[in-house]
Amino acid sequence: MTNSDAIKTETDMDAAPCWRVRHSSAVKRRFIMVQPMPAPGPQQRHDLDANDESLPLLRDLMQRYGDTCRVTSLSGSHDSVVIHNTDDIRHVLLGNRGNYVKGLALDRVRVLLGNGLMASEGELWMRQRRMVQPAFQTQVIRGFSPLMHQANVDLIERWAGHAERGEPVNLTRDLSELALKIVLRALFSTDFERLIDAEGASPFDLLTRETRRDLAFAAKFRALAHLVRAMIDSRRQEQRIEMDLLSILMEARDKDSGEAMPDRALLDEIMTLIVAGHETTASTLNWTWYLLSQNPDVESRLHAAIAGAMPAVEGEPPAECAYVEHVLQESMRLYPAGWLLSRRAVGDDTLGGHHVAAGTEVFICTYLLHRHEAHWERPEAFDPERFAPEAVEARDRFAYLPFSAGPRFCIGTTFSMAEMTMHLSMVAQRFQLQYVGDEPPQAEFQINLRTRQDVHMRLVAR
Ligand code: HEM
Repeated sequence: MTNSDAIKTETDMDAAPCWRVRHSSAVKRRFIMVQPMPAPGPQQRHDLDANDESLPLLRDLMQRYGDTCRVTSLSGSHDSVVIHNTDDIRHVLLGNRGNYVKGLALDRVRVLLGNGLMASEGELWMRQRRMVQPAFQTQVIRGFSPLMHQANVDLIERWAGHAERGEPVNLTRDLSELALKIVLRALFSTDFERLIDAEGASPFDLLTRETRRDLAFAAKFRALAHLVRAMIDSRRQEQRIEMDLLSILMEARDKDSGEAMPDRALLDEIMTLIVAGHETTASTLNWTWYLLSQNPDVESRLHAAIAGAMPAVEGEPPAECAYVEHVLQESMRLYPAGWLLSRRAVGDDTLGGHHVAAGTEVFICTYLLHRHEAHWERPEAFDPERFAPEAVEARDRFAYLPFSAGPRFCIGTTFSMAEMTMHLSMVAQRFQLQYVGDEPPQAEFQINLRTRQDVHMRLVAR
């Protein structure tokens, strides 16, 4: 079914009871002329949200109704429209972005992150994004290279012991700890070490120990904000500026008013960066190692590529290596951490030739989009060559959205790519990771796309 279809076959009718229709008797197979009408969809009601039940339903709806489908919620309070067509996706995220705010799936996130960048809207979002953006410039991120490097040196040292003893590692847990450590050091630098000294351990470890992201977790996590507030106070008192994200955000000034961020906003941004910067990266690396362990050809090619990228002088970070990036991009194609983007239409719109009423929830399922046969040959295969420059050039930009697109694209894109390429290069140079498990890991579709159980790997020294 195409985007601009104004003609639908009768089979769609079960989905759209209120369509105004005109029959054309001259045509052998009966067609029905339609005005811009609500999209087709099932009679049965469903609640769509970022949870495990939604993916099989979304897949089924795509098979039955194509690229645009409408579903009414269980309570009947609102409709949701799922879109897979890249023109519509471009329209929602970019062309007509003013008509869309973050949707239903973000309501839960707001409890955890407050009004930080991920969840805020309108003027507040715009002002905050302008003030936070400089902290994520390439130059600043280069400055974090030594801390990313050191965190991996520590990990490799610990893993070397496991490799010698032939003991598998809990990859999921170790990567979660690694990504958390990196983002906390980038945020708080020496204050983070002081916090560990004072408390005996990092109170933020809660994020790796607990995987549920429910209200109880949100309350515990928000309670940690007082620690961040104490760091802010001490820096102000001592008039201390560090080379880290916290200081950059404390020093940021609104370009119109010249004012600093209010403390409430500063705290919300910091708490947002901790969560957004940790889980997504950890889960992407977790899937990447699993995919590599199942694809020896890609693994060999990666080993060859990084051999050329490692520095001659030990202790220096590896040089950028295109193939390492392609491996990560392909991994995020198959397992995009942000697997379901959600928006809400503020005013009426038209998507896929169908009327979308104000208040409709609009879902973009990157997991299905990244496996859509219109854009990807052999979509289930793990093939980093898809990200060679010529292949990227030939593809619709909106067919691949691991970091979303438009003004609300991920602010941490460069940060996470730097962190992930560094990790992959350093670890692949030292070890081969062999999956320990009889069954492939199951995917868990919650706010993030993670593995349901921890992945364990046996490390073989190279
Ligand atoms: C592999 C790693 C990552 C992935 C796959 C990822 C993915 C995403 C996606 C899909 C969005 C858009 C959500 C939407 O449109 O509803 C987003 C937004 C965001 N991400 Fe990331 N992210 C990653 C790493 C990071 C890191 C390292 C940080 C910060 C340290 C970060 C901070 C944010 C923030 C603050 C937003 C909200 C931006 C805004 O609306 O202005 N992310 N991310």
